[in-house]
Amino acid sequence: MKRAALGLLIIVLLAGATVYWFTFIRVTNAGLAFENKLLIPEQSLGTVVDGRRQFHLTVDEGSREFLPGKRTPTAGVNGPYLGPTVRLRQGEDVDLIVRNNLDEMTTMHWHGAHVPARMDGTPHQKIQPGETWTASFGVHQQAAPLWYHPHPHGKTGLHAYRGVAGFMWIDDDNSEALDLPKTYGVDDIPLVIQDRLFDDDGAFRFAINQGAVYGDTMLINGTWSPFLQVESRRIRLRLLNGSNARVYYIGFDDNRAFHQIATDGGFLETPLQTNRVTLAPGERAEILVDFSDGAEAVLKSYPEAGLLETVEAFFGGIGTGHLELLKIVPLPAKRASHALPEHLNTISRIDASQAAKTRPMVLGGPIQGAQGGRFAGGGPGPGPPINGKIMDMERIDEVVRLGDIEIWEVDNRGGQAHPFHIHLVQFQILDRNGQAPTGAELGWKDTVLVPAGDIVRIIMPFDRYADTETPYMYHCHIMEHEDNGMMGQFLVVRPKT
Ligand code: C2O
Ligand code: CU
Ligand code: CU
Repeated sequence: MKRAALGLLIIVLLAGATVYWFTFIRVTNAGLAFENKLLIPEQSLGTVVDGRRQFHLTVDEGSREFLPGKRTPTAGVNGPYLGPTVRLRQGEDVDLIVRNNLDEMTTMHWHGAHVPARMDGTPHQKIQPGETWTASFGVHQQAAPLWYHPHPHGKTGLHAYRGVAGFMWIDDDNSEALDLPKTYGVDDIPLVIQDRLFDDDGAFRFAINQGAVYGDTMLINGTWSPFLQVESRRIRLRLLNGSNARVYYIGFDDNRAFHQIATDGGFLETPLQTNRVTLAPGERAEILVDFSDGAEAVLKSYPEAGLLETVEAFFGGIGTGHLELLKIVPLPAKRASHALPEHLNTISRIDASQAAKTRPMVLGGPIQGAQGGRFAGGGPGPGPPINGKIMDMERIDEVVRLGDIEIWEVDNRGGQAHPFHIHLVQFQILDRNGQAPTGAELGWKDTVLVPAGDIVRIIMPFDRYADTETPYMYHCHIMEHEDNGMMGQFLVVRPKT
Protein backbone atom coordinates (compact mmCIF):
# COMPACT_ATOMS: atom_id res chain seq x y z
CA MET A 1 0.00 0.00 0.00
CA LYS A 2 2.71 2.41 1.03
CA ARG A 3 4.68 1.80 -2.16
CA ALA A 4 1.59 2.32 -4.29
CA ALA A 5 0.94 5.62 -2.53
CA LEU A 6 4.53 6.72 -3.04
CA GLY A 7 4.36 5.76 -6.72
CA LEU A 8 1.17 7.74 -7.14
CA LEU A 9 2.75 10.73 -5.43
CA ILE A 10 5.73 10.60 -7.80
CA ILE A 11 3.44 10.40 -10.83
CA VAL A 12 1.43 13.35 -9.58
CA LEU A 13 4.60 15.39 -8.97
CA LEU A 14 6.01 14.57 -12.41
CA ALA A 15 2.71 15.43 -14.07
CA GLY A 16 2.62 18.69 -12.12
CA ALA A 17 6.15 19.58 -13.18
CA THR A 18 5.34 18.80 -16.82
CA VAL A 19 2.23 20.93 -16.69
CA TYR A 20 4.22 23.76 -15.13
CA TRP A 21 6.94 23.50 -17.75
CA PHE A 22 4.50 23.58 -20.66
CA THR A 23 2.67 26.46 -19.05
CA PHE A 24 5.88 28.38 -18.83
CA ILE A 25 6.61 27.73 -22.47
CA ARG A 26 3.13 28.40 -23.70
CA VAL A 27 2.42 31.62 -21.87
CA THR A 28 5.42 33.82 -22.19
CA ASN A 29 6.62 36.62 -24.42
CA ALA A 30 10.22 36.43 -23.21
CA GLY A 31 12.90 37.91 -25.40
CA LEU A 32 11.42 41.33 -26.18
CA ALA A 33 14.05 43.85 -27.30
CA PHE A 34 12.20 46.81 -25.70
CA GLU A 35 13.01 48.99 -28.67
CA ASN A 36 9.89 51.17 -28.74
CA LYS A 37 9.53 54.30 -26.66
CA LEU A 38 6.49 53.99 -24.43
CA LEU A 39 3.64 56.13 -25.72
CA ILE A 40 2.13 58.39 -23.08
CA PRO A 41 -1.54 59.24 -23.68
CA GLU A 42 -2.20 62.94 -23.94
CA GLN A 43 -3.49 64.58 -20.84
CA SER A 44 -6.79 66.41 -21.12
CA LEU A 45 -7.51 69.25 -18.71
CA GLY A 46 -10.67 70.34 -20.55
CA THR A 47 -11.80 73.94 -20.78
CA VAL A 48 -13.92 75.83 -18.30
CA VAL A 49 -17.14 77.14 -19.84
CA ASP A 50 -19.62 78.94 -17.57
CA GLY A 51 -18.06 77.39 -14.49
CA ARG A 52 -18.19 73.85 -15.85
CA ARG A 53 -15.14 71.95 -16.98
CA GLN A 54 -15.84 70.51 -20.41
CA PHE A 55 -14.16 67.68 -22.22
CA HIS A 56 -14.67 66.57 -25.80
CA LEU A 57 -14.19 62.88 -26.40
CA THR A 58 -14.64 61.58 -29.94
CA VAL A 59 -14.77 57.86 -30.51
CA ASP A 60 -13.59 56.93 -33.97
CA GLU A 61 -11.88 54.29 -36.02
CA GLY A 62 -8.23 54.52 -36.92
CA SER A 63 -5.18 52.39 -37.40
CA ARG A 64 -1.76 52.06 -35.88
CA GLU A 65 1.49 50.22 -36.49
CA PHE A 66 1.97 48.24 -33.27
CA LEU A 67 4.12 45.51 -34.80
CA PRO A 68 6.85 46.54 -37.24
CA GLY A 69 5.58 46.85 -40.81
CA LYS A 70 1.98 45.93 -39.96
CA ARG A 71 -1.04 48.22 -39.82
CA THR A 72 -3.70 47.30 -37.31
CA PRO A 73 -7.25 48.66 -37.70
CA THR A 74 -8.24 50.14 -34.34
CA ALA A 75 -10.65 52.45 -32.57
CA GLY A 76 -9.82 55.12 -30.03
CA VAL A 77 -10.83 58.35 -28.34
CA ASN A 78 -9.46 61.57 -29.89
CA GLY A 79 -6.89 59.39 -31.63
CA PRO A 80 -6.39 55.98 -33.20
CA TYR A 81 -5.91 53.92 -30.03
CA LEU A 82 -6.92 54.47 -26.38
CA GLY A 83 -7.84 57.97 -25.24
CA PRO A 84 -6.53 60.96 -23.29
CA THR A 85 -6.04 60.86 -19.54
CA VAL A 86 -8.95 63.01 -18.38
CA ARG A 87 -8.08 65.05 -15.28
CA LEU A 88 -10.93 65.95 -12.93
CA ARG A 89 -10.88 67.75 -9.61
CA GLN A 90 -13.07 67.17 -6.61
CA GLY A 91 -15.59 69.99 -6.21
CA GLU A 92 -15.88 70.76 -9.91
CA ASP A 93 -18.85 70.34 -12.20
CA VAL A 94 -17.94 68.63 -15.43
CA ASP A 95 -19.42 67.88 -18.83
CA LEU A 96 -17.98 64.94 -20.72
CA ILE A 97 -19.17 65.39 -24.29
CA VAL A 98 -18.88 62.09 -26.14
CA ARG A 99 -19.28 61.90 -29.90
CA ASN A 100 -19.68 58.52 -31.58
CA ASN A 101 -18.06 58.45 -35.01
CA LEU A 102 -18.14 54.66 -35.21
CA ASP A 103 -20.61 53.07 -37.57
CA GLU A 104 -22.38 51.35 -34.72
CA MET A 105 -23.95 52.23 -31.38
CA THR A 106 -21.69 52.51 -28.36
CA THR A 107 -21.76 54.03 -24.85
CA MET A 108 -19.13 55.52 -22.54
CA HIS A 109 -18.90 54.49 -18.91
CA TRP A 110 -16.89 56.21 -16.16
CA HIS A 111 -15.59 53.22 -14.26
CA GLY A 112 -15.35 53.88 -10.53
CA ALA A 113 -17.10 57.24 -10.71
CA HIS A 114 -19.78 58.30 -8.25
CA VAL A 115 -22.31 59.73 -10.71
CA PRO A 116 -26.08 59.81 -11.32
CA ALA A 117 -27.39 56.70 -13.10
CA ARG A 118 -28.30 58.61 -16.23
CA MET A 119 -24.73 59.91 -16.52
CA ASP A 120 -23.09 56.53 -15.96
CA GLY A 121 -22.77 55.49 -19.61
CA THR A 122 -24.22 52.02 -19.10
CA PRO A 123 -25.92 49.98 -21.87
CA HIS A 124 -28.94 52.28 -21.35
CA GLN A 125 -27.22 55.52 -22.40
CA LYS A 126 -26.82 54.58 -26.05
CA ILE A 127 -24.93 56.85 -28.41
CA GLN A 128 -25.96 56.17 -31.99
CA PRO A 129 -23.48 56.62 -34.85
CA GLY A 130 -22.90 60.32 -35.52
CA GLU A 131 -24.56 61.33 -32.27
CA THR A 132 -23.28 63.09 -29.17
CA TRP A 133 -24.09 62.32 -25.55
CA THR A 134 -23.10 64.47 -22.61
CA ALA A 135 -22.45 63.20 -19.11
CA SER A 136 -22.80 66.06 -16.61
CA PHE A 137 -22.04 65.64 -12.95
CA GLY A 138 -20.30 67.11 -9.94
CA VAL A 139 -17.10 65.46 -8.78
CA HIS A 140 -17.66 64.53 -5.16
CA GLN A 141 -15.28 61.64 -4.61
CA GLN A 142 -11.70 61.60 -3.39
CA ALA A 143 -8.56 61.48 -5.53
CA ALA A 144 -8.50 58.20 -7.44
CA PRO A 145 -7.25 56.62 -10.66
CA LEU A 146 -10.53 55.96 -12.49
CA TRP A 147 -10.95 55.02 -16.15
CA TYR A 148 -13.50 55.05 -18.95
CA HIS A 149 -14.55 52.52 -21.53
CA PRO A 150 -17.58 51.67 -23.70
CA HIS A 151 -20.41 49.56 -22.27
CA PRO A 152 -22.81 48.59 -25.12
CA HIS A 153 -24.41 45.34 -24.01
CA GLY A 154 -22.90 42.36 -25.79
CA LYS A 155 -20.18 44.49 -27.43
CA THR A 156 -18.21 45.96 -24.52
CA GLY A 157 -15.39 43.48 -24.99
CA LEU A 158 -15.10 44.11 -28.72
CA HIS A 159 -15.16 47.91 -28.45
CA ALA A 160 -12.58 47.94 -25.65
CA TYR A 161 -10.44 45.41 -27.50
CA ARG A 162 -10.27 47.68 -30.54
CA GLY A 163 -8.87 50.36 -28.25
CA VAL A 164 -11.64 52.50 -26.80
CA ALA A 165 -10.57 53.20 -23.21
CA GLY A 166 -8.65 55.76 -21.21
CA PHE A 167 -7.71 56.92 -17.73
CA MET A 168 -9.75 59.44 -15.75
CA TRP A 169 -7.84 60.70 -12.73
CA ILE A 170 -9.40 62.64 -9.92
CA ASP A 171 -7.42 65.04 -7.76
CA ASP A 172 -8.37 66.62 -4.46
CA ASP A 173 -6.78 68.79 -1.72
CA ASN A 174 -5.09 65.73 -0.26
CA SER A 175 -3.54 64.50 -3.49
CA GLU A 176 -2.33 68.02 -4.23
CA ALA A 177 -0.81 68.46 -0.77
CA LEU A 178 0.96 65.08 -0.68
CA ASP A 179 4.61 65.14 -1.63
CA LEU A 180 4.30 62.57 -4.42
CA PRO A 181 5.66 62.48 -7.96
CA LYS A 182 3.00 64.25 -10.04
CA THR A 183 4.62 65.47 -13.23
CA TYR A 184 2.56 63.73 -15.88
CA GLY A 185 4.55 61.44 -18.13
CA VAL A 186 7.81 62.30 -16.34
CA ASP A 187 7.53 60.84 -12.86
CA ASP A 188 3.79 60.15 -12.78
CA ILE A 189 3.26 57.55 -15.47
CA PRO A 190 -0.02 56.09 -16.75
CA LEU A 191 0.30 52.42 -17.74
CA VAL A 192 -2.62 50.76 -19.50
CA ILE A 193 -1.85 47.05 -19.63
CA GLN A 194 -3.51 44.98 -22.37
CA ASP A 195 -2.96 41.62 -24.01
CA ARG A 196 -3.80 41.19 -27.68
CA LEU A 197 -3.79 38.53 -30.38
CA PHE A 198 -2.61 39.56 -33.82
CA ASP A 199 -3.38 37.97 -37.18
CA ASP A 200 -0.56 37.57 -39.67
CA ASP A 201 -1.69 40.71 -41.49
CA GLY A 202 -1.53 42.70 -38.26
CA ALA A 203 -5.27 42.83 -37.50
CA PHE A 204 -6.40 42.26 -33.92
CA ARG A 205 -7.89 38.81 -33.53
CA PHE A 206 -10.89 38.74 -31.21
CA ALA A 207 -10.82 35.02 -30.51
CA ILE A 208 -12.76 33.58 -27.62
CA ASN A 209 -10.86 30.84 -25.82
CA GLN A 210 -12.30 29.28 -22.64
CA GLY A 211 -15.08 31.84 -22.70
CA ALA A 212 -12.98 34.99 -23.03
CA VAL A 213 -10.28 36.69 -25.10
CA TYR A 214 -6.69 36.11 -24.01
CA GLY A 215 -3.78 37.52 -25.98
CA ASP A 216 -0.15 36.48 -26.20
CA THR A 217 1.20 39.92 -27.14
CA MET A 218 1.39 42.70 -24.58
CA LEU A 219 0.62 46.32 -25.35
CA ILE A 220 1.38 49.02 -22.79
CA ASN A 221 -0.40 52.30 -23.60
CA GLY A 222 -0.72 50.76 -27.05
CA THR A 223 3.05 50.27 -27.35
CA TRP A 224 4.53 46.90 -28.20
CA SER A 225 7.91 45.99 -26.67
CA PRO A 226 8.21 49.32 -24.86
CA PHE A 227 10.91 51.07 -22.87
CA LEU A 228 10.55 54.12 -20.64
CA GLN A 229 13.34 56.45 -19.58
CA VAL A 230 12.92 57.96 -16.13
CA GLU A 231 15.13 59.91 -13.76
CA SER A 232 17.02 57.86 -11.17
CA ARG A 233 14.65 58.62 -8.34
CA ARG A 234 11.25 57.61 -6.98
CA ILE A 235 8.70 57.21 -9.79
CA ARG A 236 4.94 56.79 -9.56
CA LEU A 237 3.32 54.24 -11.86
CA ARG A 238 -0.45 54.19 -12.23
CA LEU A 239 -1.40 50.73 -13.43
CA LEU A 240 -4.66 49.82 -15.12
CA ASN A 241 -5.53 46.32 -16.18
CA GLY A 242 -7.35 47.28 -19.36
CA SER A 243 -7.36 43.71 -20.66
CA ASN A 244 -10.55 41.90 -21.51
CA ALA A 245 -9.87 38.86 -19.35
CA ARG A 246 -6.30 38.30 -18.22
CA VAL A 247 -5.26 38.68 -14.58
CA TYR A 248 -1.70 39.92 -13.90
CA TYR A 249 0.61 39.39 -10.94
CA ILE A 250 2.84 42.37 -11.42
CA GLY A 251 6.39 42.82 -10.17
CA PHE A 252 9.89 43.50 -11.47
CA ASP A 253 12.31 40.99 -12.97
CA ASP A 254 14.84 41.76 -10.21
CA ASN A 255 12.10 41.23 -7.63
CA ARG A 256 12.73 44.68 -6.17
CA ALA A 257 10.40 45.93 -3.50
CA PHE A 258 8.12 48.88 -4.20
CA HIS A 259 5.27 50.64 -2.43
CA GLN A 260 1.63 50.47 -3.36
CA ILE A 261 -0.03 53.78 -2.50
CA ALA A 262 -3.49 53.56 -4.06
CA THR A 263 -6.18 51.09 -5.06
CA ASP A 264 -9.18 51.55 -7.40
CA GLY A 265 -10.90 54.22 -5.32
CA GLY A 266 -8.08 56.21 -3.75
CA PHE A 267 -5.03 56.29 -1.55
CA LEU A 268 -4.26 53.64 1.02
CA GLU A 269 -3.67 54.94 4.56
CA THR A 270 0.06 54.30 4.37
CA PRO A 271 2.41 53.08 1.63
CA LEU A 272 2.39 49.30 1.48
CA GLN A 273 5.74 47.67 0.82
CA THR A 274 5.49 44.65 -1.47
CA ASN A 275 6.97 43.10 -4.60
CA ARG A 276 3.74 41.97 -6.29
CA VAL A 277 0.44 43.57 -7.18
CA THR A 278 -2.46 41.43 -8.38
CA LEU A 279 -4.46 43.23 -11.04
CA ALA A 280 -7.66 41.71 -12.45
CA PRO A 281 -9.45 43.26 -15.44
CA GLY A 282 -10.79 46.68 -14.46
CA GLU A 283 -8.58 47.05 -11.37
CA ARG A 284 -6.06 49.85 -10.83
CA ALA A 285 -3.11 50.32 -8.52
CA GLU A 286 -0.64 53.13 -7.98
CA ILE A 287 2.88 52.20 -7.00
CA LEU A 288 6.03 54.13 -6.10
CA VAL A 289 9.24 52.55 -7.37
CA ASP A 290 12.66 53.78 -6.36
CA PHE A 291 15.13 53.95 -9.25
CA SER A 292 17.83 55.91 -7.40
CA ASP A 293 20.22 52.97 -7.79
CA GLY A 294 20.16 53.66 -11.53
CA ALA A 295 19.58 49.99 -12.34
CA GLU A 296 17.28 49.03 -15.21
CA ALA A 297 14.33 46.80 -14.41
CA VAL A 298 11.63 45.08 -16.42
CA LEU A 299 8.07 45.36 -15.22
CA LYS A 300 6.53 41.94 -15.75
CA SER A 301 3.70 39.66 -14.81
CA TYR A 302 4.50 36.46 -12.95
CA PRO A 303 2.55 33.20 -13.06
CA GLU A 304 0.02 32.81 -10.33
CA ALA A 305 0.74 30.05 -7.89
CA GLY A 306 -2.67 28.36 -8.03
CA LEU A 307 -2.73 24.90 -9.59
CA LEU A 308 -6.06 25.49 -11.28
CA GLU A 309 -4.67 28.44 -13.27
CA THR A 310 -1.69 26.34 -14.19
CA VAL A 311 -3.79 23.47 -15.44
CA GLU A 312 -6.03 25.91 -17.30
CA ALA A 313 -3.00 27.51 -18.84
CA PHE A 314 -1.82 24.13 -20.04
CA PHE A 315 -5.04 23.18 -21.74
CA GLY A 316 -6.23 26.53 -22.93
CA GLY A 317 -3.13 28.69 -22.87
CA ILE A 318 -4.96 31.32 -20.86
CA GLY A 319 -3.18 31.27 -17.54
CA THR A 320 -0.70 33.99 -16.88
CA GLY A 321 2.87 32.89 -17.34
CA HIS A 322 5.90 35.13 -17.47
CA LEU A 323 4.87 38.18 -19.45
CA GLU A 324 7.27 41.07 -19.90
CA LEU A 325 5.54 44.42 -19.92
CA LEU A 326 7.95 47.37 -19.92
CA LYS A 327 11.65 48.01 -19.52
CA ILE A 328 12.41 51.00 -17.31
CA VAL A 329 15.71 52.75 -17.97
CA PRO A 330 16.87 55.21 -15.30
CA LEU A 331 18.90 58.24 -16.41
CA PRO A 332 20.70 60.73 -14.14
CA ALA A 333 18.23 62.57 -11.92
CA LYS A 334 17.64 66.31 -12.33
CA ARG A 335 16.13 66.72 -8.91
CA ALA A 336 16.11 65.00 -5.53
CA SER A 337 13.90 61.98 -5.00
CA HIS A 338 10.56 62.38 -3.26
CA ALA A 339 10.58 60.98 0.24
CA LEU A 340 8.14 58.19 0.95
CA PRO A 341 5.10 59.80 2.63
CA GLU A 342 4.33 58.31 6.00
CA HIS A 343 0.63 58.94 5.79
CA LEU A 344 -1.46 59.10 2.63
CA ASN A 345 -5.09 59.05 3.58
CA THR A 346 -7.58 58.35 6.33
CA ILE A 347 -9.89 55.43 5.67
CA SER A 348 -12.57 54.98 8.29
CA ARG A 349 -13.64 51.38 8.35
CA ILE A 350 -17.33 50.70 7.87
CA ASP A 351 -18.53 48.20 10.44
CA ALA A 352 -20.72 45.27 9.45
CA SER A 353 -23.23 46.33 12.11
CA GLN A 354 -23.95 49.51 10.11
CA ALA A 355 -25.39 47.53 7.20
CA ALA A 356 -29.14 47.64 6.61
CA LYS A 357 -28.98 44.33 4.79
CA THR A 358 -26.81 41.64 3.23
CA ARG A 359 -27.40 40.83 -0.43
CA PRO A 360 -26.19 37.49 -1.81
CA MET A 361 -24.32 37.57 -5.13
CA VAL A 362 -23.69 34.01 -6.28
CA LEU A 363 -21.28 33.80 -9.21
CA GLY A 364 -21.37 30.82 -11.54
CA GLY A 365 -23.30 27.62 -10.99
CA PRO A 366 -26.45 26.63 -12.86
CA ILE A 367 -28.66 29.09 -14.72
CA GLN A 368 -32.18 29.18 -13.30
CA GLY A 369 -34.70 27.61 -15.60
CA ALA A 370 -32.12 26.62 -18.17
CA GLN A 371 -32.71 23.15 -19.54
CA GLY A 372 -30.63 20.66 -17.66
CA GLY A 373 -28.73 23.52 -16.05
CA ARG A 374 -25.60 25.06 -17.45
CA PHE A 375 -22.35 25.57 -15.72
CA ALA A 376 -19.79 28.30 -15.81
CA GLY A 377 -16.45 27.82 -17.46
CA GLY A 378 -16.66 28.85 -21.08
CA GLY A 379 -18.10 27.05 -24.03
CA PRO A 380 -20.89 28.49 -26.12
CA GLY A 381 -24.03 29.88 -24.63
CA PRO A 382 -24.83 32.43 -21.99
CA GLY A 383 -23.24 32.96 -18.66
CA PRO A 384 -21.82 32.38 -16.22
CA PRO A 385 -24.82 33.68 -14.26
CA ILE A 386 -25.11 35.89 -11.19
CA ASN A 387 -27.66 34.55 -8.71
CA GLY A 388 -28.66 32.01 -11.37
CA LYS A 389 -29.65 34.77 -13.80
CA ILE A 390 -28.37 36.05 -17.12
CA MET A 391 -28.48 39.81 -17.78
CA ASP A 392 -31.78 41.17 -19.05
CA MET A 393 -31.89 44.86 -19.97
CA GLU A 394 -35.61 44.93 -19.12
CA ARG A 395 -35.26 43.41 -15.66
CA ILE A 396 -34.25 45.16 -12.44
CA ASP A 397 -32.48 42.65 -10.24
CA GLU A 398 -31.98 44.61 -7.05
CA VAL A 399 -33.46 47.73 -5.47
CA VAL A 400 -31.34 49.58 -2.92
CA ARG A 401 -32.63 52.32 -0.60
CA LEU A 402 -30.84 55.64 -0.88
CA GLY A 403 -28.81 56.27 2.25
CA ASP A 404 -28.39 52.62 3.15
CA ILE A 405 -25.14 50.87 3.83
CA GLU A 406 -25.22 47.32 2.47
CA ILE A 407 -23.13 44.20 2.55
CA TRP A 408 -22.90 42.19 -0.67
CA GLU A 409 -21.75 38.64 -0.18
CA VAL A 410 -20.00 37.59 -3.37
CA ASP A 411 -19.87 33.81 -3.42
CA ASN A 412 -18.04 32.22 -6.34
CA ARG A 413 -19.47 28.74 -6.89
CA GLY A 414 -18.11 28.43 -10.41
CA GLY A 415 -14.82 26.96 -11.51
CA GLN A 416 -12.88 30.11 -12.35
CA ALA A 417 -11.99 33.47 -10.86
CA HIS A 418 -14.29 36.44 -11.58
CA PRO A 419 -13.47 40.13 -10.96
CA PHE A 420 -16.73 41.48 -9.51
CA HIS A 421 -17.44 45.15 -10.22
CA ILE A 422 -20.19 47.46 -8.98
CA HIS A 423 -21.02 50.80 -10.60
CA LEU A 424 -21.59 54.02 -8.59
CA VAL A 425 -19.85 52.94 -5.39
CA GLN A 426 -16.44 52.40 -3.91
CA PHE A 427 -16.57 49.58 -1.37
CA GLN A 428 -14.50 48.13 1.44
CA ILE A 429 -13.69 44.45 1.75
CA LEU A 430 -15.17 43.22 5.03
CA ASP A 431 -13.71 39.76 4.82
CA ARG A 432 -12.52 37.08 2.43
CA ASN A 433 -13.46 33.54 3.43
CA GLY A 434 -14.05 34.86 6.93
CA GLN A 435 -10.62 36.48 7.22
CA ALA A 436 -10.28 40.21 7.77
CA PRO A 437 -8.51 42.00 4.89
CA THR A 438 -4.87 42.97 4.97
CA GLY A 439 -2.56 45.05 2.78
CA ALA A 440 -4.06 46.51 -0.39
CA GLU A 441 -7.42 44.91 0.40
CA LEU A 442 -7.80 47.60 3.08
CA GLY A 443 -8.18 50.19 0.32
CA TRP A 444 -11.30 51.48 -1.46
CA LYS A 445 -12.27 49.23 -4.35
CA ASP A 446 -14.82 49.07 -7.13
CA THR A 447 -13.66 45.73 -8.51
CA VAL A 448 -12.61 42.70 -6.48
CA LEU A 449 -11.17 39.44 -7.74
CA VAL A 450 -13.11 36.47 -6.39
CA PRO A 451 -11.33 33.18 -7.13
CA ALA A 452 -13.31 29.95 -7.47
CA GLY A 453 -14.62 28.88 -4.10
CA ASP A 454 -14.02 32.24 -2.40
CA ILE A 455 -16.65 34.19 -0.53
CA VAL A 456 -15.88 37.90 -0.31
CA ARG A 457 -18.09 40.22 1.72
CA ILE A 458 -17.97 43.86 0.71
CA ILE A 459 -19.63 46.84 2.36
CA MET A 460 -20.57 50.22 0.92
CA PRO A 461 -22.84 53.22 1.26
CA PHE A 462 -25.36 54.09 -1.46
CA ASP A 463 -25.63 57.83 -1.17
CA ARG A 464 -26.33 61.07 -3.06
CA TYR A 465 -28.05 59.77 -6.21
CA ALA A 466 -31.47 58.15 -6.57
CA ASP A 467 -33.40 57.32 -9.73
CA THR A 468 -36.52 55.19 -9.92
CA GLU A 469 -36.02 54.40 -13.58
CA THR A 470 -32.40 54.15 -14.57
CA PRO A 471 -30.37 51.27 -13.17
CA TYR A 472 -26.70 50.87 -12.47
CA MET A 473 -24.84 47.66 -13.32
CA TYR A 474 -22.89 45.09 -11.36
CA HIS A 475 -20.98 42.49 -13.29
CA CYS A 476 -17.95 40.35 -13.83
CA HIS A 477 -15.25 42.51 -15.44
CA ILE A 478 -14.04 39.71 -17.68
CA MET A 479 -15.62 41.51 -20.59
CA GLU A 480 -16.73 38.39 -22.46
CA HIS A 481 -18.46 37.12 -19.32
CA GLU A 482 -20.17 40.48 -18.96
CA ASP A 483 -21.14 40.46 -22.65
CA ASN A 484 -22.49 36.92 -22.24
CA GLY A 485 -24.77 38.13 -19.49
CA MET A 486 -22.75 37.88 -16.27
CA MET A 487 -24.29 41.17 -15.24
CA GLY A 488 -27.23 42.47 -13.24
CA GLN A 489 -28.97 45.82 -12.72
CA PHE A 490 -29.79 47.71 -9.55
CA LEU A 491 -31.79 50.83 -8.80
CA VAL A 492 -31.09 53.21 -5.95
CA VAL A 493 -34.41 54.72 -4.80
CA ARG A 494 -35.47 57.19 -2.13
CA PRO A 495 -37.17 55.30 0.71
CA LYS A 496 -40.86 56.16 1.02
CA THR A 497 -41.20 58.24 4.15
CU1 C2O B 1 -15.59 48.96 -16.11
CU2 C2O B 1 -19.53 48.20 -15.92
O1 C2O B 1 -17.60 48.57 -16.04
CU1 CU C 1 -17.97 50.50 -13.90
CU1 CU D 1 -16.29 36.25 -14.95
